[in-house]
Amino acid sequence: MTAQPTFTGPVRTDILTLPWNTPLEEWPEEVLVALPRGISRHIVRFVQMGEDIAAVKETTLEMANREFEMLRQLRQRDVPTVKPIAVVTDRLDDSGEELPAALVTKHLRFSMPYRAVFSQTLRPDTATRFVDAMAVLLVRLHLIGFIWGDVSLSNVLFRRDAGSFAAYLVDAETGELIDNELSPGQRANDIEVARINIAGELLDLQAGGRLDASIDPVDLANKFVTSYENLWSELTEWETIESTETWRIAERVERLNAMGFDLGEISLKTDTPGSTVRIKPKVVDAGHHARRLLRLTGVDAEENQARRLLNAMDEYIARKAAGKAFNEERLAHEWLISEFDPVIESVPGELRGKLDPPQIFHEVLEHKWYLAKARGADVALPEAAALYFADVLQHRRDEEVIVSPPTVTISLPVIKDWRDLV
Ligand SMILES: Nc1ncnc2c1ncn2[C@@H]1O[C@H](COP(=O)(O)OP(=O)(O)O)[C@@H](O)[C@H]1O
Ligand SMILES: [Mg+2]
Repeated sequence: MTAQPTFTGPVRTDILTLPWNTPLEEWPEEVLVALPRGISRHIVRFVQMGEDIAAVKETTLEMANREFEMLRQLRQRDVPTVKPIAVVTDRLDDSGEELPAALVTKHLRFSMPYRAVFSQTLRPDTATRFVDAMAVLLVRLHLIGFIWGDVSLSNVLFRRDAGSFAAYLVDAETGELIDNELSPGQRANDIEVARINIAGELLDLQAGGRLDASIDPVDLANKFVTSYENLWSELTEWETIESTETWRIAERVERLNAMGFDLGEISLKTDTPGSTVRIKPKVVDAGHHARRLLRLTGVDAEENQARRLLNAMDEYIARKAAGKAFNEERLAHEWLISEFDPVIESVPGELRGKLDPPQIFHEVLEHKWYLAKARGADVALPEAAALYFADVLQHRRDEEVIVSPPTVTISLPVIKDWRDLV
């Protein structure tokens, strides 16, 4: 009997070529891709699927469907999570035995589980930014009414974001989306679970000798809580201002922008005598700098990368405009084609899997600054880039493993390239 699994998800015929009639644990080497993976309850493997790398997780049918739907809804609400591809059900092995359902998600490019981040000795200040990224993620999830449940470093993926990190949710299995605002108790519960898990996961790294001696796990877990609370208050709390001090509204907006958020709507209340006004953000959207960079240049970057690239772009624009009136869009485009693109195009082919383009550009700028400081004279961008590739990037480990096309063992008709069919 031939197993005929059922696939639910957007149309992708390349998924059919995977050996669904075999337990995931026994999938042959040729279909697997060796990438760092976090700790998990279920069996999780990475596979080549067409041009993408996918993560396959074996779980129950109910859980796979639930997680697929949850990830879809979170992405619709603009929260950074991995992208669901399909749920595979009705799997049978060659002797007709039932196999577990599987959830297939797209591998998040250039992402690292926390153990990989910490394995490159993390300085204490970088470790603080690491928990800040985690706090931003939890705040964003809470703002849209998501109770996570199992908040832990193992359920998050990290991407470099200039000198900091961006956190993505990877495991939504225990989560729940509710229609109402979360109660303080519901938030407190997630925060406490996070604090205990973060401390535990870091203590575990410490016990294995993989944590910089200057980092205190409990202290860092507590910093996560402070970072969460600060961001939460800035984004949600009422502030009383004198009715003559309306410029303080602009100040609040600037503070939000500096934290990477845009104010969509504000709530205003006046007291009866009319001497004070109370203000509170009503709708906030993350990605203040990332959106501006995308709009002006089409470059899709993480928030801090975008902040850095925009600084470079604004400097360029100021130099070119030289105090005269200018068209921002035109000069932004000029910056893109004369500064950003040439640097990215000059990255030697074999180094392209090391970091994503916005991160490379950010690091080139850092290197340029560092060279200029050492020489006491300005250094041109192309020269700084060439030196950065040779002296720094070459020695970095790959954060995206480029894989060659696999030889696939299949149980269903082979479709060589599904794009030929559409
Ligand atoms: N789409 C993905 N991209 C990158 N890594 C992934 C992806 N899906 C899963 N992983 C890795 O697999 C690990 C386990 O996945 P997870 O969904 O947390 O499984 P479990 O439900 O068993 O805990 C994660 O920590 C992560 O490192
Ligand atoms: Mg998990």
